[in-house]
Amino acid sequence: MSAKIIDGKKVAKLTRKEVRQDVDDWMDDGHRAPFLQVVLVGTNPASDVYVGAKTRACKDVGIETDTMRLPDTISAKELKATIQELNEDDTVDGILVQLPLPNHLSAHDVIESIDYRKDVDGFHPMNVGRLTVGQPSFRSCTPAGIIELFKHYSIPTKGKHAVVVGASNIVGRPISILLNKESGEYGKATTTVCHKYTKDLTQHTISADILVVAAGQPNLIKPEMVKEGVVVIDVGINRVADETKDKGYTLMGDCHFESVKEKASWITPVPGGVGPMTVAMLMKNTLLAAKNSIYPQ
Ligand code: GUN
Repeated sequence: MSAKIIDGKKVAKLTRKEVRQDVDDWMDDGHRAPFLQVVLVGTNPASDVYVGAKTRACKDVGIETDTMRLPDTISAKELKATIQELNEDDTVDGILVQLPLPNHLSAHDVIESIDYRKDVDGFHPMNVGRLTVGQPSFRSCTPAGIIELFKHYSIPTKGKHAVVVGASNIVGRPISILLNKESGEYGKATTTVCHKYTKDLTQHTISADILVVAAGQPNLIKPEMVKEGVVVIDVGINRVADETKDKGYTLMGDCHFESVKEKASWITPVPGGVGPMTVAMLMKNTLLAAKNSIYPQ
């Protein structure tokens, strides 16, 4: 078997087109454009790339945005005071603090200082908690984007064994909750979450009908670790040194793509798989925030 490709770039484009139409309708009803405030602390080349992609997507769908660049010497107190001002500013609909933060700052603390009603990343404990018990909430963008891909390609997850490799708060844990909890055909999976202390990773991955890998380790998943017909969602974005490339690196996921593709029924490429969906879902969340759809006032 050679897997069919899950084209995240294509689905993200469709999603963005829908959001653009919804933004236009919202503004035709007399509202101002939704506004996303991005907060970028310190310098991190990967964060610059991600924030650039988010800014371009905002322009594409008609969402206004600004990136506040803060020095990596900023104290927790100063950063939280800045966030408090954004919380109180009625012209700001969504707040996104790009992660990772410099080591002296606690991401938990900073995320918790964001008004959960403006938390378009879906990282605030209020949103994560509500997601976990099945109440309306902002859903973190990468997991929400993965569910959209299943829906678009009619890949039902109900009753399937979904194995998640990686237990981060950004991807692994929330996708395991969504896959386990969502109602209908695109949820209700039996889920296993593996992490770096999992003893025999293959014992788990080999039984997966759906394998979501978000470990940040290139070539972690090899063909002998998966069963024939598995659906593979590769969330890894690893920069691997490559002198033949202008940038000096090549982007790779967490799976050995060429060989795993031969056993899988569906697979996401890297780049062009999950990444563009994350950005598209952020656009959706920002519009929901502007409309107060999740938390009506
Ligand atoms: N760093 C890596 N992914 C993300 C994301 O989705 N949101 C934020 N805020 N930071 C990130």
